[in-house]
Amino acid sequence: MRLLVLGGTVFLSRAVAEAAVRRGHDVTCACRGASGSLPDGVRHVVLDRSTTGAGAVLDDGFDAVVDVARDPAWVRSSVAATPSAHHVLVSTINVYPDTSTPGGGPSALSLHEPLHDVPDEGEAEAEAYGALKVGCELAVGAAASSWVVRPGLIVGPGDGSQRYPWWVRRLVDAAPGEEVLAPGHPDDPVQVIDVRDLAEWLVDGAEQRRTGVVDGVGPVVGRGEALAAIARGVGADVRWTRVDQDTLLAHDVAPWAGPRSLPLWLPLPQYAGLMAHDPEPARAAGLRTRPPEQTAADTAAWLATQPDPSPPEGLTREEERALLAALT
Ligand SMILES: NC(=O)c1ccc[n+]([C@@H]2O[C@H](COP(=O)([O-])OP(=O)(O)OC[C@H]3O[C@@H](n4cnc5c(N)ncnc54)[C@H](OP(=O)(O)O)[C@@H]3O)[C@@H](O)[C@H]2O)c1
Repeated sequence: MRLLVLGGTVFLSRAVAEAAVRRGHDVTCACRGASGSLPDGVRHVVLDRSTTGAGAVLDDGFDAVVDVARDPAWVRSSVAATPSAHHVLVSTINVYPDTSTPGGGPSALSLHEPLHDVPDEGEAEAEAYGALKVGCELAVGAAASSWVVRPGLIVGPGDGSQRYPWWVRRLVDAAPGEEVLAPGHPDDPVQVIDVRDLAEWLVDGAEQRRTGVVDGVGPVVGRGEALAAIARGVGADVRWTRVDQDTLLAHDVAPWAGPRSLPLWLPLPQYAGLMAHDPEPARAAGLRTRPPEQTAADTAAWLATQPDPSPPEGLTREEERALLAALT
């Protein structure tokens, strides 16, 4: 297969290119080459999608395209340049405004009104992310055939965010028997997908010219088990102290990401659906997920190779200690 990856220098799009090369495909990555290195074995076509139409540098000889774009204009341009190819669009579960209904998916949840162009400078592009992805999904419909995959939280080696890696670092650094704060209730849902499992499945979909729309999500597990699996994966033996969400909110602990946050924690019921999408359609469509311990171990190994990891953004150790001391 002649595969075009629009991206290839970071995390998911890089994992897709790597997986496709491993399978013996002829892989071209079109991007600026600004965000990182490309995997060995790919051809690089230099393309800055913010300034150059894809047709200026790409021909229509590709069998399949994998695109991670967030800007519908970029998708319109790449589809116009490669109209005969099968397009796999990486969207997001943020296309659904409903974050509270568990078990949701394409047939159960409605979508944001689409945005067809990135808002003018000064407006909050991050807030428009879901609506722009809906615009991207509509734009990819102009291709000969397309498959839209809406992932939930993607984790694993190469994850430059401060979400899942925050927990890996916290537990790698924990002394034997150390007390660690476990947010919320142990049965609260957590749902992640290892970037490599998602990438392999995206390449399957490109090979098989899979069509339709599906959430790219792994199994739902309780947070207690999700955190315990990370601990097992990195060989940490800690003492968990549960702190319920009302107490965390009362002490100004932020959910999900950012300063003073505890990642993988989301207040319920307003976010009861975000990490509890129905995983069955993806599984039925061939998505296979590795053991969570392996994701944790490999993320820890990857973090250890990072030359100068920036300080974790979430709750600091001092803040965690102060909080535990105040509660016990
Ligand atoms: N992380 C999550 O938990 C999560 C959850 C749900 C969905 N998603 C979706 O999953 C995908 C993640 O993709 P990703 O990991 O590859 O990261 P990404 O940040 O979405 O995309 C990065 C790629 O886009 C390229 N790019 C950026 N600006 C460009 C430009 N002006 N011209 C050409 N290429 C450009 C980058 O290459 P250069 O900078 O080198 O040009 C890089 O290879 C996205 O679609 C995201 O919306 C993520």
